[in-house]
Amino acid sequence: MFCCVRLSSFLLPLLCLLLALFFSSLGEGKEFGTASSSGSTADGLEEWGYVQVRPKAHLFWWLYRSPQRVVNGETPWPIVLWLQGGPGSSGVGIGNFQEIGPLDLNLKTRNSTWLQKADLLFVDNPVGTGYSYVENTDLFVKTDEEAAIDLTTLLKFIFNENEKLQKSPLYIIAESYGGKYAVTLGLSILDAVQSGHLKLKLGGIALGDSWISPEDFVFSWGPLLADVSRLGRNGVEKSNSLAMKIKEQIKNGNYSGATDTWGELEDVISRGSDGVDFYNFLLSNKEQVVAATTVKKYSNYLNDKSSISLGGLSGLMNGLIRRKLEIIPKNVSWGSQSDGVFHALYSDFMKPRINEVDKLLSKGVNIIVYNGQLDLICATKGTEAWVQKLKWDGLNEFNSLDRRPMYCGGKDTNGITNGITNGFTKSYKNLHFFWILGAGHFVPVDEPCISLKMVGEITQSPANVHMSDHTLVIT
Ligand SMILES: *[C@@H]1O[C@H](CO)[C@@H](O)[C@H](O)[C@H]1NC(C)=O
Ligand SMILES: *[C@@H]1O[C@H](CO)[C@@H](O)[C@H](O)[C@H]1NC(C)=O
Ligand SMILES: *[C@@H]1O[C@H](CO)[C@@H](O)[C@H](O)[C@H]1NC(C)=O
Repeated sequence: MFCCVRLSSFLLPLLCLLLALFFSSLGEGKEFGTASSSGSTADGLEEWGYVQVRPKAHLFWWLYRSPQRVVNGETPWPIVLWLQGGPGSSGVGIGNFQEIGPLDLNLKTRNSTWLQKADLLFVDNPVGTGYSYVENTDLFVKTDEEAAIDLTTLLKFIFNENEKLQKSPLYIIAESYGGKYAVTLGLSILDAVQSGHLKLKLGGIALGDSWISPEDFVFSWGPLLADVSRLGRNGVEKSNSLAMKIKEQIKNGNYSGATDTWGELEDVISRGSDGVDFYNFLLSNKEQVVAATTVKKYSNYLNDKSSISLGGLSGLMNGLIRRKLEIIPKNVSWGSQSDGVFHALYSDFMKPRINEVDKLLSKGVNIIVYNGQLDLICATKGTEAWVQKLKWDGLNEFNSLDRRPMYCGGKDTNGITNGITNGFTKSYKNLHFFWILGAGHFVPVDEPCISLKMVGEITQSPANVHMSDHTLVIT
């Protein structure tokens, strides 16, 4: 089409080829994503912005550089990408201000912030979540893979031009549904790195209380609750029969049907247990019994724990924080959970991602699984069940190893451990598992001290060398 000028028959194909190369490289440039707007603090420690990952689809990101960065020449300073669940929950809001960021909901210093161990990158993922937005609701992602492609586009934008950042290994740390994005993103990152389109070093992927195998979780609920006296025989029977139905629907590829049944099952569990809290089975949440809808309010658990002096998370994100960032469009209002995003992923919600974990393990990627002891929705019982389904050839050895206890209290001068056991861990080759005692679904919120220690281990942070074996110093 471009070649209708009169040229010799020899030059014509050559010119066409050159034009084709030119236009394809243009297209490639575009695929890298473009910044719509950005901002930063005067000290350069914080940067944020929007990247248009597809036409009319914008991801918001916020990077914190650690003031405690340690450069020891041996271990590189890590960067953590935090992926919130939902689907549709805001990492920039919930993960940052309620879980691991430098400030809490009252803008007071969080003494357990993970920023002490790594730089932190929060993203409102997928598009439509939190400050991220789409100009047309058809642009919501419908699968985990679509979310991974958008995130990869964002990472290209953030990493490719920044040589300093490229030296920091990236650890993707996910919570809940975020685990499904994390493993699809991991594979997408490996492809992009291999094909030369993305310059970063993937350090590992941590799956915190992650929805990797919905089937295994729904089968865990009845028996687990019965074992801890929260559900009776009839409840367990009903629960197991709905879990069987879900298994069948998943087997038949009826994933949206499986999501429907999951909703029914949550109601059966809520009623049968008189309102057990899905995020900590030792607690009750009466609201769940009343709510007949399937989508539970993800962050009620956290909001119950926080003060409302700045209007709670929503007041903060639509007030002070929005004014600080300056670039949030007027017609984008921040919400902690986007139902639109959730519903667009309705048919992907119950799809397992065990195969993706297997692929990553076989490619040598560090996989870290951590789970709160008291979580129900992504119960440790269910997590252990899907881990046993891995085809990874190290599984038998992993199973045969003993666990190492973890403490937060440090040791006294005689080497005697102070305080109680906070968790257990074990590793074989590139699979690592942390069992965190006393924590529910939101592990860093419930057990901040041991979580901080864990994230130091996960990321092999050089900040750990400041932490002697005897005392855990957190400033
Ligand atoms: C952090 O602050 C809390 C509440 O003030 C306190 O109980 C805890 O001991 C502190 N943790 C550390 C590691 O300093
Ligand atoms: C916000 O308003 C602008 C201008 O009217 C429009 O182009 C854009 O699509 C709107 N964005 C959203 C998310 O509705
Ligand atoms: C999928 O499951 C739903 C809910 O149980 C059911 O209504 C629907 O007929 C099923 N679809 C197919 C194609 O089997």
